[in-house]
Amino acid sequence: MGLLIKGGEVITADARPRCDIYIENETVTSIGQALDVPPGTETIDATGKLVFPGFIDPHVHIHLPFMATFAKDTHATASKAALIGGTTTFIEMCCPSRYDDAIEGYQTWKQKAEGNSACDYAFHMAVTRYDAATEAQLRAIVKDGTASFKVFLAYKDFFGVTDEELLSTLKLAAELGVITTAHCENAVLVSQQQRKLLAEGKTGPEWHEPSRPEMVEAEGTGRFAAFLEQTGATGYVVHLSCEPALRAAVDAKLRGVKLHVESVLPHFLLDKTYAERDGVEGMKYVMSPPLRAPRNQCALWAALDAGLIDTVGTDHCPFDTAQKLMGAEAFTQIPNGIPGIEDRVNLMYTYGVKLGGLNIHRFVDALSTRPSKLFGLFPRKGTIAVGADADLVVYDTEYRGKIAASTQQTNNDYNGFEGFAIEGRPSVVTVRGKVQVRDGQFVGEPGRGRMLRREPMHGPQGAAHAG
Ligand code: URP
Ligand code: ZN
Ligand code: ZN
Repeated sequence: MGLLIKGGEVITADARPRCDIYIENETVTSIGQALDVPPGTETIDATGKLVFPGFIDPHVHIHLPFMATFAKDTHATASKAALIGGTTTFIEMCCPSRYDDAIEGYQTWKQKAEGNSACDYAFHMAVTRYDAATEAQLRAIVKDGTASFKVFLAYKDFFGVTDEELLSTLKLAAELGVITTAHCENAVLVSQQQRKLLAEGKTGPEWHEPSRPEMVEAEGTGRFAAFLEQTGATGYVVHLSCEPALRAAVDAKLRGVKLHVESVLPHFLLDKTYAERDGVEGMKYVMSPPLRAPRNQCALWAALDAGLIDTVGTDHCPFDTAQKLMGAEAFTQIPNGIPGIEDRVNLMYTYGVKLGGLNIHRFVDALSTRPSKLFGLFPRKGTIAVGADADLVVYDTEYRGKIAASTQQTNNDYNGFEGFAIEGRPSVVTVRGKVQVRDGQFVGEPGRGRMLRREPMHGPQGAAHAG
């Protein structure tokens, strides 16, 4: 049976018509004024509401063995949280460590997700070691539809790669037409600074930021860009947090390097004073790159609106209070990460679009269309068009509420945005035509999500025109 979404203002990356959307067999089959639909069609009245394409979170961690523990969410909890917040597709970092077998790790991640996610999903495959056997496995993983890599220039001896391994990864990526995402911090400078601070008795969470200062991230970003330039590969900096790193990225873009930039929700709204709070309250805000001095937020918002920051993800990575306390004696032992998958859309809408610093089409572009284009999901995902998957968000701009851990779906005992006001939230969310959320409640099919297989699209012909 079909579904009609009637009378909403449909907002895509480049248009805002008021029209009806008709869905059959999981896809949008017609768009227009006063559509004539079969009798008995289920109708959602979107009058007075906005209708967005389902949002895509290009950077999440769900299953993650990291810093002697595991991130808290399961695919069931994280996907419901995503949907309640308007995210209908996420791309998870598949992160075996450098001591694990890549293909075994890939199978583990796939098995954990399969049948358990309520929304659609894909993976970025982390390359945490490079040798002949791993290279053969990476080729098979790309053939299986995982057409993006992830490298860490930080987290030496666990996820981190050497410069030689980075070079080999990018050569392979260029050959296969795969985009490589990168965590850009200089691992050597971070470890040296961590040792120095601890030796001086500086053990609290407030020392996390000074242990990985802005220049350390700028160096990583610049180095990644130089390696891209040498290899001709296409790259994507994840969770860029500060102005010097942004300058390094923009400088590379101006040189013609095929480099795209993601910033993540916490860096737009939180600053390093949160990590300076006493005890575990500060530990809750330890992530890498760290929360920065407030002046960086102006640069991030301006660059986002101008399109120099391509996408906004979350780096969703929940650890609870007990896990954060593993670092009570030393900030280097605090599991890095903060949740955000449930709140990205509402917070970026409220503090970006509503406050006036973010154009509404750029908002849709950065949170849906551009991730879709960059990661090979377009036009199936990331827009509202005939033939696209019917992943839709009917958005109630009249809603007023506050972020609270007590009402969240995310499996965690705190929310880093506790008490933040939101002005708007999804009233209906569909995944391939099925209503999964109504007014903040999950009402759908828990295992509906499918793995999205993607073709490499960053080959020498420059097939991806994401900009
Ligand atoms: O602090 C963070 N970002 N935790 C998750 C792992 C990563 O670096 O993305
Ligand atoms: Zn990272
Ligand atoms: Zn991450």
